[in-house]
Amino acid sequence: MQEKNTYWIAVLPGDGIGPEVAREARRVLEAVSEAYGFCVEISEYAMGGAALDLYDDPLPPATLDACKAADAVFLGAVGGPKWDDRTGDQRPESGLLKLRKALGVYANLRPVSVPTGLADASPLRADVVAGVDLLVVRELTGGIYFGMPKGRTETEAFNTMRYTTEEIERVAHVAFQWAEQRQGRVTSVDKANVLVVSQLWRAVVTAVHEASYPHIALDHLYVDNAAMQLVRAPRQFDVILTANLFGDILSDLAATLPGSLGMLPSASVGGSVGLFEPVHGSAPDIAGQGKANPIAAILSVAMLLDTLGENAAAGAVRRGVQAVLAARYRTVDLWRDGDKQVLTAEMGALIAHHATAGEAVMTG
Ligand code: IPM
Ligand code: MN
Repeated sequence: MQEKNTYWIAVLPGDGIGPEVAREARRVLEAVSEAYGFCVEISEYAMGGAALDLYDDPLPPATLDACKAADAVFLGAVGGPKWDDRTGDQRPESGLLKLRKALGVYANLRPVSVPTGLADASPLRADVVAGVDLLVVRELTGGIYFGMPKGRTETEAFNTMRYTTEEIERVAHVAFQWAEQRQGRVTSVDKANVLVVSQLWRAVVTAVHEASYPHIALDHLYVDNAAMQLVRAPRQFDVILTANLFGDILSDLAATLPGSLGMLPSASVGGSVGLFEPVHGSAPDIAGQGKANPIAAILSVAMLLDTLGENAAAGAVRRGVQAVLAARYRTVDLWRDGDKQVLTAEMGALIAHHATAGEAVMTG
């Protein structure tokens, strides 16, 4: 008999709603592993504010070592008001930036689609958002998040937005390769009318396109215009390629399309180990109440499974989510008249069930 594949997964629940959604992500991961014939060995490690409280370090060495040794890393969320007065390395977020850098995950993939039946949950008009299916490819280990010099004195503070040609090239390849699997279009977003770093960005993306992907349609937008186009006519986008800070902002904006940040998963790739996290933050306002939407976390598990090559299980997770949404189960962020309101744990259990049952949910 052939031995089952075993994957070592490091789970970092983190802060706020992080632990609540990570629990449901684990539940779904464990359920599909059984149904699809592989094993997952899951261990949890401290990260973010939780790790600051325990070890005075937002990314303790034991956590980082475990992440580096794992087959994949799942992160809930980091940060919260408890640590808001902290600065520099004492902030929960600095642990996340360190982790991204240490794993070398320079490309952050944030798919945004509007599932059938969810168009009316968006604050935008249903006819504007119906059928949206785009992918933000955000550069994740460079740009103004990491650029040196940075500093602060009594009267002044500064960061540096810096990119090398090589950093732009490698993330551009990721975007073009995804476009080849999708609708064959890349929109590169920059601020080349003002920033020299964006002028380099645009020149390098153009050169990569000409050299290797002439069959892909490429256009360039300034980031202010891209923000407007995302709410005005979001269906025009296939792959959006952009720098770290612009991608951070545009992906939250894009979350209005499906109606909730609670729907958006992400995968950070390109390094030794993939890092998978919901795009939403720690949402301290609803933490501990059991009402967070676990779908972003669960769809991040689907991306994790794809990266491991467990595509059938990944597909099952996505079908589970679709089935449960089609049956009009909603957490409070998406709930509207006529829907069935469920808590985080119920949503996770329903999705785990339908991902493994492989049959449609009763819609009665
Ligand atoms: C995100 C988050 C992080 C970021 C924070 C928590 C550091 O907003 O993943 O989008 O800015 O990258
Ligand atoms: Mn963000």
